[in-house]
Amino acid sequence: MHDARTQATFDYSSRQALEDYFNSSPGSATEKLENFAKYVPRQNLARFLARYEIFKLIKNIQGSIVECGVLFGGGLMSFAKLSTILEPYNFQRRIIGFDTFDGFPSIDKSDLKGRPERKSMHLKPHGFAVDGAYQDIQKAIEIFDISRYLNHFPKVQIVKGDFKATSKRFIEEYPHLVVSCLYLDFDIYQPTKLALETFLPRMPKGSVIVFDELNEEAFPGESIAVMEVLNLNSFRVRRFDFEPRISYAIIGD
Ligand SMILES: C[S@@+](CC[C@H](N)C(=O)[O-])C[C@H]1O[C@@H](n2cnc3c(N)ncnc32)[C@H](O)[C@@H]1O
Repeated sequence: MHDARTQATFDYSSRQALEDYFNSSPGSATEKLENFAKYVPRQNLARFLARYEIFKLIKNIQGSIVECGVLFGGGLMSFAKLSTILEPYNFQRRIIGFDTFDGFPSIDKSDLKGRPERKSMHLKPHGFAVDGAYQDIQKAIEIFDISRYLNHFPKVQIVKGDFKATSKRFIEEYPHLVVSCLYLDFDIYQPTKLALETFLPRMPKGSVIVFDELNEEAFPGESIAVMEVLNLNSFRVRRFDFEPRISYAIIGD
């Protein structure tokens, strides 16, 4: 999925070159995946590394990881795999992903503030809808569970539907939920605000809120929601020197 507002021409051509290279490279699909560094764009490797750094911050903080916005599930499964690599016996940490799997349910006027030509092309009802993505992530979890330690405890949980309805139902069903990492990646105003209101009271000191679109002109709704719920002056918003988009705040920092 490309967006002319954030991708330069060479981004398109280098991705196309990588795709052609992947398709024509020798080796089975498994052998290619085992040599993933040859094929994965450096930007995506950087995002994986950022998730690793975030995971290390919350490794010894009690609570589950909540990802708001799953899409294809690469981010969610990164956390799932990091959990089994780094803490195979932590059966209490769930990796919970919320998504409609039908793209944005609606767009608020806050999402459209600012210069229209600088907004993402996905910013419309059903933006980011991907056919079959829900079934696909279920399959990924099923395969992941085959060789996972303590796989009689669920690890990854997908909550399908509009967050406006699913968040309320989820908290009723799982009133014990404590959150060590809230990964905000809905991109838009309303569910981002609701996610902060729902999960913040469940986040202990030392837990981490991750912002995927803070200070992002293409999706102003996330920043507006964050500034309405949190007092930006009262905490540090940290970032990584190797990844431009992801930033985070540590509760109590
Ligand atoms: C940018 S994508 C998430 C990307 C993903 N975190 C990743 O790392 O690849 C944003 C997702 O948020 C979902 N979304 C936006 N608003 C939502 C809402 N109100 N309820 C549920 N999902 C929503 C969209 O369906 C979309 O798949």
